[in-house]
Order: sequence, then structure tokens, then C-alpha cells
Amino acid sequence: MTSQEMESITNVMEFEAVAREKLPKMVYDYYASGAEDQWTLHENRNAFSRILFRPRILVDVSNIDMTTTILGFKVSMPIMVAPTAMQKMAHPAGELATARAASAAGTIMTLSSWATSSVEEVASTGPGTRFFQLYVYRDRNVVRQLVRRAEKAGFKAIALTVDTPRLGRREADIKNRFTLPTHLTLRNFDGLDLGTVDRTNDSGLATYVADQVDRSLNWKDVKWLQSITTLPILVKGVLTAEDASLAVQAGAAGIIVSNHGARQLDYVPATIMALEEVVRAAQGRVPVFLDGGIRRGTDVFKALALGASGVFIGRPVVFALAAYGEAGVRKMLKMLHDELELTMALSGCRSIKEITRAHITAPWDAPHVSPRL
Ligand code: FNR
Repeated sequence: MTSQEMESITNVMEFEAVAREKLPKMVYDYYASGAEDQWTLHENRNAFSRILFRPRILVDVSNIDMTTTILGFKVSMPIMVAPTAMQKMAHPAGELATARAASAAGTIMTLSSWATSSVEEVASTGPGTRFFQLYVYRDRNVVRQLVRRAEKAGFKAIALTVDTPRLGRREADIKNRFTLPTHLTLRNFDGLDLGTVDRTNDSGLATYVADQVDRSLNWKDVKWLQSITTLPILVKGVLTAEDASLAVQAGAAGIIVSNHGARQLDYVPATIMALEEVVRAAQGRVPVFLDGGIRRGTDVFKALALGASGVFIGRPVVFALAAYGEAGVRKMLKMLHDELELTMALSGCRSIKEITRAHITAPWDAPHVSPRL
């Protein structure tokens, strides 16, 4: 595809080709890749296509309310921005553009620990509800400082990523000897001498994680985190009922069903396949969110029908940002908003609450008794 005007983009997937054209190969590959065989990467998308609608007709859908609350914060739609690292590789305005776009869309942005803009810089873009994604470093003083700074900068929750004791094997990054371009740093760690990702014989990021991230992280640390912050903690990276129960017991304020965009353990199920067992285990005690492979309003609807309280978007944000900067991210969020609204109208749902399990059918549902012909 040749570089095209933003007006001609008609769905969220189309940003990727424009981004691919504009970005250096190393950067595009880092954003796009999954782990190893990338089976889960494809499955994150494919699984949505096996879930079908049971639309209700003749419902007056002349007014549709897509607003909802997330941890008590009102949002314009249950579609939020997932943490993705190093956004200034996509566009010079990086995370600042994403923050502005999310805020303009009336939704929540999650800032990555490995952002190329600091928590303070992102806060200075103006009002907006924001969450901070946390990687726990071996040096707990680093974690304490970072959490304190996020609190002070007005971030409203911590998304604790629990699926990354080591970095997944992303072969393109290994081949490319991925490293953060030298004009950029992991801004949150600048003052701590941990802001650069050095070039190594491997993915530079894999080496950085091996050196800095605490592999011993366990449930006790979720308690520890609660002892150093009053912010609600979302456990990001749950894929089983067992861990959902443990997360609730450990005091999590919410659960994010995530396989890290298929970048960690390959051959885990698509998140949409794991969602329902997690929702059942949570028993309504905490909200359950989902990320992974959401590219359509119909995908969002399916996640909500299976019990998610909201979803987060990863790659489309960086691709839209790379393609058209802040305007691209705004357009991407608006397209998902409008598609979800249309899906609700065509399914007979006038509010987020009206989306129920009965509005979809999944492959694991018991077959319906068909009438005898
Ligand atoms: C991520 N993800 C991620 N997660 C996290 O907790 N901290 C991080 O710094 C990052 N960085 C990151 C970079 C890139 C380029 C990608 C693609 C992903 C995972 C992210 O939060 C989310 O789980 C997935 O991206 C969701 O899947 P989709 O929407 O990309 O399919």
C-alpha cells in the first residue's frame, strides 16, 4: 500500500500498512511481533471470528448510551488504551500524543513503565484519567519511587504486569538486535541510570529485562505493592480461573485478561477464549477487563457479552500514531467507538448494561435444540 491520506482509512487494521511504510524495519517488527511461532498472535484474532451474534430485533435504538464507569471513573466508552512501550519510536510526540487523543476521546490511557515520556510529562498534557503500568524491578527502591511519582502525577490506578518474569522470545527482535534508538530513553528511569537499552547479541530489551526485572515476583508482592500505594491495582496477564481467584484474594481491584498481545508465552489461548472462565472465577467481586486482538467494534461487543467490563487496545494505537500522530490515534478510537455503537444498534442494545451473554453464541455453548422440521 502506498502512503495514503488519513481520510481513506476505513478500519483500524488499515493503519498498520501505512505505519509499516513509514517506520524503520526494526521498529515496525518490534511493534508487530508476537512470540516464537506467533500461533497465539493469529489466534487472538481468529478466535473472535468463531463467536457469533444472536441479535435482538425491533428494539428502539434511536438513543444509544455507550458511557460506563471503570473503577469509578466515567468514560465515554468501554474502550481504553493499553500500555505499549516506547511510543516515540512511532512518532516524535509519542505518549504525549496518545495521552491527548485518549483524553479527547473521553477514555483512559495506560502509560507503560517503558514509555519514552515520563509520568510528569504525560500528566502535563492536561486533564484525563490515566493508569500507570508497572514492571517490578529487582531494586524495590526504583519501584517505590516510580509508584510515588505516578501517584503525584495524578495517575489513578496501577496495572501490574505479571506475565513478564522474562521477556518472551520475539524472533524478529533477536534478528534485528532490537535496541531503543539512542536519541530516546525510557524517561521514567532517566534519573536512575536505567533509561537506556543497550545493543546486545540478543534483543536488547530481552537483556534489559533479564538484568532489571524481578523474576521472583509472586503473590506476596501484590500485597507488598498495596503497602506502598493507595492506588487500586489491576493484575494484568491473568489467563486462568485459578489465578483469577488468587488475584481477588490478594486484594486486586481488577483483573486484565491478557496474553501481552501474544508476545510472551506462545500457545496460550486467545484472550477471548480465556475470558469467560476468569469472569466466572471473579464472581463479580472485581471487574474483569480484556486486551488482545481487538480490532473491531464487534470484538469489543463480544468481550462485553462474555463479561468484560471494558477492553484495552495495544497495536492499533502505535500503528495509528506512527501513521498520522495524534490525529491518527483520535481517528482510531473514534472508529472503534462508532463500530461498537453500530454493533449495539444492530443487536438491539441501548446501553452497555443491555449487552448480555444471550447476545452471542460461542463454540463451547451447548447446541441449541433445533425444531423438528
Ligand atoms: C505491549 N504490551 C505491553 N504491556 C505491558 O504491560 N507493558 C508494556 O510496556 C507493553 N509494551 C508493549 C509494546 C508493544 C509494541 C505491544 C504490541 C504490546 C502489551 C499490551 O499492553 C497489550 O497487552 C497488547 O498489546 C494487547 O494486544 P493487541 O491489542 O496489541 O493485540
